[in-house]
Amino acid sequence: MSAPAPIQVLLVEDEEFDVERVRKTVRLVNTRIHIADVVSNGKAALEFIGQRNDRYDVVILDFQISGGLRGEELIQKMKELDPLLQIIVITKMTMNMTDLAFATSLLRAGAFWYCTKYPGNIEDYIYQPTDFILSVYNAYEKRRLEKQHQKSDRRLMKSIESMLEAKKIQGTSAPILQLREAIERYAKSDANVLITGASGTGKELVAWNIHLKSRRKFESFVPINCGGIPPELIESELFGYEKGAFTGANTSKPGLFEVANNGTVFLDEVSELPHPAQVKLLRVIQEGEIEKIGRRGALSVNVRIIAATNKELSREVSEHRFREDLFYRLNVIPLDLVPLKERGTDILELFTYFLGYFSADMNMPTPEVDEKAKEILLNYRWPGNVRELRNVAQRLVLNTSGRITAKDMTHPMILRTSPLTDEVMSVQEVGGGQILPLKEIERLFRTNYFKYVRSISSSDSNAAERLGLAPSNFYRMCKELGIK
Ligand SMILES: Nc1ncnc2c1ncn2[C@@H]1O[C@H](COP(=O)(O)OP(=O)(O)OP(=O)(O)O)[C@@H](O)[C@H]1O
Ligand SMILES: [Mg+2]
Repeated sequence: MSAPAPIQVLLVEDEEFDVERVRKTVRLVNTRIHIADVVSNGKAALEFIGQRNDRYDVVILDFQISGGLRGEELIQKMKELDPLLQIIVITKMTMNMTDLAFATSLLRAGAFWYCTKYPGNIEDYIYQPTDFILSVYNAYEKRRLEKQHQKSDRRLMKSIESMLEAKKIQGTSAPILQLREAIERYAKSDANVLITGASGTGKELVAWNIHLKSRRKFESFVPINCGGIPPELIESELFGYEKGAFTGANTSKPGLFEVANNGTVFLDEVSELPHPAQVKLLRVIQEGEIEKIGRRGALSVNVRIIAATNKELSREVSEHRFREDLFYRLNVIPLDLVPLKERGTDILELFTYFLGYFSADMNMPTPEVDEKAKEILLNYRWPGNVRELRNVAQRLVLNTSGRITAKDMTHPMILRTSPLTDEVMSVQEVGGGQILPLKEIERLFRTNYFKYVRSISSSDSNAAERLGLAPSNFYRMCKELGIK
């Protein structure tokens, strides 16, 4: 094993006699401690430190040096240049020997250690040598640990940033801008959040974003699907049990709330939580304690709860399926996610984003989307919201090459419900909810249907062909209907 690199020291001392005494003191371990440079005033010290980050490990600083820049002010400036620098202050024997306030003011300014010099008649050493050398060693060790800390903090920050990038909430519509702002604001608090919204609107994504932007970001995010665990197992899943709590409990099992301690619990489909579990959950929120099955005495936990539901929870309350007190405890910050259909051009923005994402994933160029296909996307109802849009984009990347046309969009494999049903087939919608004479409703239907077929066809003759009409008939009928 090679010897460790010597500790690099900058000595700030203006009296030649004291420089010599420091040299003699550390010479006892001259392979371990290296006086790299000596300067006689604060300005020079800052210049030397500023030249290269990481140049020195430890500074030995005389408190009474000439020049204006000294003491606490100099210590602070050195720490600004290199926060990991460790500074040991030495002062004359005559001053401040018992002045604790003075010593603490140095430490507060950022010094690591403080000691008083031997009187001038002791020529060999400046300070009790082993104490002095050990304080340099300790200073170096502190720097090493701080460096390590900084490194792992940076690594953690990086992984949080890359998770946030992967879980980025796309879109620029007004509701999405408001949502992003709300997430920034509420992430800072520890209050419980209730996210409501239809299936596929991004509830889980929002929960992740709140967690990753909160103080709890380095701790666990534990998602629990309350509707997915059999009711008889839910309590042991959530709160765990001790060994021997019941027959078959051969080992103890931590509950998900215990696993999430100091982090965030995401209670998905919270309306499905059975009644006994609702009571226990209320206790977790009120007392910060869980009752583990078979354990005497409660266990303290600190979790933030983000709950989500696509049901109207207040209605579950009024119909006595959900506890009212629990509802108010969960609904401290309500966030409601609007359906995709109400987000306007977000539809195209998200679609482009997912096309790019899946094409890159498959190492393919991103297909272009023609105008008519865009129109279909914008007019579609999106009952499955963003999840459906994401799936549509993925299927299109798999099934088309180069360019996405209206024809691709209307392929039965692509959109879950045919756009036809949405736009022209609804009897109520065609007549605006009224009963009309057959002739009129036929005319309305024809108009809508012709418009629709034209919107998804590459040309008028293509539309005529799809309708099984000769082009000349198609033109005439269009004219009659006032389309052309
Ligand atoms: N604004 C958005 N930007 C990017 N991706 C999104 C956005 N909203 C939703 N998604 C994606 O859509 C999919 C569905 O989102 P998520 O699972 O969060 O919805 P949900 O509301 O929890 O749905 P469910 O009610 O069905 O559980 C996920 O793949 C998610 O990453
Ligand atoms: Mg979900």
